[in-house]
Amino acid sequence: GKGNYRHYMEKELHEHPAVLGDTLRQYLDPKTLEVRLPRLPFDPARVPRLTVSACGSAFLAGQVGRYWIERLARIPVDADVASELRYRDPPLSEGGAAILVSQSGETADTMAALKLLRERGQKVLSVVNVPESSMARESDATVLTVAGPEVGVASTKAFTAQLAVLACLAIGMGRARRELSTLDEGRLTQALLTLPHNAALVLEKDAQIRELAAEVAKARDVLFLGRGPMFPIAMEGALKLKEISYIHAEGYAAGEMKHGPIALIDSAVPVISLCPSGPLFEKTLSNLQEAAARGGRIMAFTDAAGAPALRRFAEAVIELPEVEPIAQPILHAIPVQLLAYHVAVLKGTDVDQPRNLAKSVTVE
Ligand code: F6R
Repeated sequence: GKGNYRHYMEKELHEHPAVLGDTLRQYLDPKTLEVRLPRLPFDPARVPRLTVSACGSAFLAGQVGRYWIERLARIPVDADVASELRYRDPPLSEGGAAILVSQSGETADTMAALKLLRERGQKVLSVVNVPESSMARESDATVLTVAGPEVGVASTKAFTAQLAVLACLAIGMGRARRELSTLDEGRLTQALLTLPHNAALVLEKDAQIRELAAEVAKARDVLFLGRGPMFPIAMEGALKLKEISYIHAEGYAAGEMKHGPIALIDSAVPVISLCPSGPLFEKTLSNLQEAAARGGRIMAFTDAAGAPALRRFAEAVIELPEVEPIAQPILHAIPVQLLAYHVAVLKGTDVDQPRNLAKSVTVE
């Protein structure tokens, strides 16, 4: 049941801290600060290239995974939505492998990509939430997200659990390839282990996020911006908002805005930016200043180090806990999902069962 919550989605949003803890405990040793990966169907030290594929939010998690795997393990990664991959006839590397991501493990397009990849000699690792699913059965190996059943049609806790698993995979593969030292591994795993606590702190920002939602609910179009691993999170924010509030939204790479979407910007379009401190902060900040100079209403999620610079021109700044870069996309996923939830509630849409959508898309 929903307990004291109004919707399954609200309940599931509040399960982020527990789900992150359960998933991380499965793949990290909090004493040694080492990643403990299950058996992989390929040797990460030798694999020449990886293909990441999935649909919807699961694909967005996969895209964050691509940034991590390339950065930490230095393995080239190709990422494509399953409905494209299955008909693209991509040239695949000899000895290559694939990582497929799915909450249900039953999505038709992802299943088709899985079959194609295996037929073409790729070893397939699936990240799934349902252990007895078709994808789990048909993959060479499976890593489970420990999110528990997800009832709301919009993916929430399964998404952050997918990110947690992909972060562990990237660190583990980085170690196997000697791209990371024991020290690096310890620093990264420690950052991930702060997530359950920090996710709970993010949920305490609920009132501030609801205030932001009241503004966003008035808009016809909304732009979400981010750079690096925050770019797929911007797309996640846009996807969630479209899906449950029926407000048109786009997630864009902040640096790409000047190549077109900046033409949309006026005082009616909220520009929601995911802008934590770190190596890409200044770059994102200058993109946001460009938008503000054109009358854009900047609403930013950041941390204590990023807030002062943003407050100079942003209409709203919500401060999240300051964490290491690897934990930032996971932490920022929570408020964008929560924002979509509150906007949908204000709009009075059917939050758990949005129109035209099914929880698991088992037809092409
Ligand atoms: C968005 C959402 C969908 C799913 C997609 C894949 O909130 O829930 O985009 O992520 O349909 O579903 P699974 O993960 O079951 O393969």
